[in-house]
Amino acid sequence: MVSNVKSPRALGRTARWAEPGSKSAALFARAQGVLPGGNSRTTVYMAPYPPYAASGEGCWITDVEGDRRLDCLNNYTALIHGHAHPAIVEAATRRLAHGASFPMPTPEEIELAALLCERLPSAERVRFTNSGSEAVMIAIKGARAFTGRSKIAKFEGAYHGSYDYAEVSLASTPDNWGSLAAPTSTSYSRGTPPAVLEDVVVLPFNHTAEAVARIEQHARDLAAVLVDPVPNRVGLVPARVEFLRALRDVTRRHGIVLIFDEVISFRVGYHGAQGAFGVTPDMTTLGKIIGGGFPVGAVAGRADVMAVFDPTRGTPAAPHGGTFNANPVTMAAGLAAMRLLTPDAFARLDELGARLRASLDDCFKRAGVPGRVAGLGSLFRLHAVDRELSDYRSTRTTPAESERLVRLVRRLMEHGVLMSITGLGCLSTAMAESELEVLVETFAAILEMER
Ligand SMILES: Cc1ncc(COP(=O)(O)O)c(C=O)c1O
Repeated sequence: MVSNVKSPRALGRTARWAEPGSKSAALFARAQGVLPGGNSRTTVYMAPYPPYAASGEGCWITDVEGDRRLDCLNNYTALIHGHAHPAIVEAATRRLAHGASFPMPTPEEIELAALLCERLPSAERVRFTNSGSEAVMIAIKGARAFTGRSKIAKFEGAYHGSYDYAEVSLASTPDNWGSLAAPTSTSYSRGTPPAVLEDVVVLPFNHTAEAVARIEQHARDLAAVLVDPVPNRVGLVPARVEFLRALRDVTRRHGIVLIFDEVISFRVGYHGAQGAFGVTPDMTTLGKIIGGGFPVGAVAGRADVMAVFDPTRGTPAAPHGGTFNANPVTMAAGLAAMRLLTPDAFARLDELGARLRASLDDCFKRAGVPGRVAGLGSLFRLHAVDRELSDYRSTRTTPAESERLVRLVRRLMEHGVLMSITGLGCLSTAMAESELEVLVETFAAILEMER
């Protein structure tokens, strides 16, 4: 995978959405009258308005203007097989033809739960939700019910979905983040109740001694320690193995539930990030890839911990409802997607991912533009900074660095490659070497514009 700036494949223009009078401009104008800021999902907004999607096939998305881009975002890592994989389309439509949802359980939920229990070391029982945010919410609730304690600990900068407790210190700044040994609990949403901030102990990611000391200090009150082993908003910098091991030891010693959030990081291996790192938590939250492109979430865990949700012996310690939990269309699509994800499929994705990260890193170096590429497995994240990245504080960008990254991603978007405006990208099994070459060549050409 060598970058070749002058390749004819790179730099085709895909910027019709940005032109005045485009279909996307008209749709956004209409959306603004019925959706706040024309938007249903903060993450997909880009100024002044985004292109609207029309269709997807494999690793390509066509927007409503007819421009086609290489999809290196895959709905924020959810679509590990790209768009409209025939086996997933077939499984979902076959199930849909027999009814979309029921006030009864269906066999499909057992099959997907069994697959997850087989693959994930920590999973003896599974509970389905409709999103990763809900999975995190329910896991926290379950850990509280199991321990009888109310506080949780989470890591500075780590994203775990749109739930008050999980959002604490998601966007701490140098002005308010406090010391590394005792990071301040900061609110993300205006009006967050002070009680929420008091009930969340914030820890420094990848700082073993400081994190362990702080957990020990609050141990008596802590129901759970919530950690994502490859946290996207902490720069997609993987956890150090000895750091995860220390979290495992200290939580076990103090009877605290260790929750791994693998909503994204289940992509890291056939046995999840926990298999790849060799550290088994008590509970795991899942989402994204396990739904085959449909709304999904799940909490998996040890049988004794998960028993808090068991309704067979009277009202459970943590009752949990949800009209669409484990809906059979999602279950059927998820099962098809997960069955396609064999150990060989993971090995291929991992190999392509490692080569891609090295090639993109090389592009930065050759162009003399400050930048780094983080990630693991099929995940990658561009950083427009040139320093060692190890924790939230080191990955947090200055306004000038953020501006450079947004400019790079926008130019990629204008030249046939879709990534997140934050620099997040990921591969799908629909991609081949030739598509990754297009990405690398386009990236190299775009870095040339920075010089
Ligand atoms: C690590 C992590 N946890 C939880 C969530 C929330 O999942 P959802 O968007 O399905 O609510 C996300 C979403 O990106 C995530 O990255």
